Amino acid sequence: MRLLVKNIGTIVGIETAGRLRLCGGEMDRLETFDDAWLLSDDGRIAAFGSMDSLGEMAADEVVDAGGGMLFPSFCDSHTHLVYAGSREQEFLDKINGLTYEQIARRGGGILNSADLLHRTSEEELYRQAMGRIREIAAMGTGAVEIKSGYGLTTADELKMLRVIRRIRETAPLAVRATFLGAHAVPRAYVGRQEEYVDLVCNEMLPAVAAEGLADFVDVFCDEGFFTVEQTARIMKAGRKLGMRAKIHANELAVSGGVQVGVEYDALSVDHLERMGGPEIDALHGTVTSPTMLPGAAFFLGMSYPPAREMINAGLGVALASDYNPGSSPSGNMRMVVSLACIRMRMTPAEAINAATLNGAYAMGLSRDYGSVTVGKVANFFLTVPMPSVAFMPYAYTTPLISRIFLRGEGVVA
Ligand code: NIG
Ligand code: FE
Repeated sequence: MRLLVKNIGTIVGIETAGRLRLCGGEMDRLETFDDAWLLSDDGRIAAFGSMDSLGEMAADEVVDAGGGMLFPSFCDSHTHLVYAGSREQEFLDKINGLTYEQIARRGGGILNSADLLHRTSEEELYRQAMGRIREIAAMGTGAVEIKSGYGLTTADELKMLRVIRRIRETAPLAVRATFLGAHAVPRAYVGRQEEYVDLVCNEMLPAVAAEGLADFVDVFCDEGFFTVEQTARIMKAGRKLGMRAKIHANELAVSGGVQVGVEYDALSVDHLERMGGPEIDALHGTVTSPTMLPGAAFFLGMSYPPAREMINAGLGVALASDYNPGSSPSGNMRMVVSLACIRMRMTPAEAINAATLNGAYAMGLSRDYGSVTVGKVANFFLTVPMPSVAFMPYAYTTPLISRIFLRGEGVVA
């Protein structure tokens, strides 16, 4: 199927140098092309050029962009969007003054979602998660990482990962799966945390690997959750089974999670609300992507990660939504980009690069996703005409996205 999009006001996010992520000063450059057409063939970007040069071109479908912009789809490298029900009761608790940690200590939080998930069938979980997949696709996301971690028993972790596999097989987005057995210590193991880590390493990880259900392994390495030593054990066990690490680190405290993630070649360390100079230094020159989740900082009223310091130090940062029922019940990547600009002083170019190419890098997908590049998968969206690229994060609630294309085909939003 050949799709021709013509009369594009500006193509945004072109990458011609083959870079798999952008670092430091490179992040502030967003390559654009005005007054353009773009052709996709068999789901991949085949060519683009100037409207002056279009002439006659054979295509199965022709779309007139009407002078709007074309952006590469967002690549959301950190979500927990397979979950049962919702947790707005805890939202009320938070309004009334409890913190995320206090709610977790009372047995709420992640354990609350685990109880609900246990009682929910695989079919129903899939149904609820696909609703969220349709929601994020309509908001411009074309690639997404999804974590387990609301199972906390071998059977329920496998149930979640099978739901993620089914989403991967049926949704038009690119999907990556992460095993997050060490998301919280289940009630049955309170006071026996080491034994739970044994279970994760010796039973859960091998079972996940046997069915090929996960690309990555994750650990919530933070105060009140899992220690640096436990995180290292789990990363080592995952690595033996071919799973790279993506770590929850430094959300609640300066946890040592960044350093241990770097030591084990984690693909990303995520959250980073609590970062100092040593954490930034540890990331310098490494393959590990520092990934920030400003939606969680916004929803929980926490301080934001020091994005400016990280970029100024030369790091290549990524942005993701953290879509989950407890700390970020939203998968809206446009909102994430706006928060990065408004609260973290990232430029629109930096924030868009962080939410596209660098997001793809943070889930090992940037060879095929994250930019407008000939040969990459044709995942992109069109906008209504806008005065500039900065208008998108600026007009942060205006519905600007007009059409979505995944694998070169229109998606009905
Ligand atoms: O990324 N921090 C740990 N996990 C999630 C929250 C999960 C939940 O509260 O359900 C996060 O914020
Ligand atoms: Fe998370």
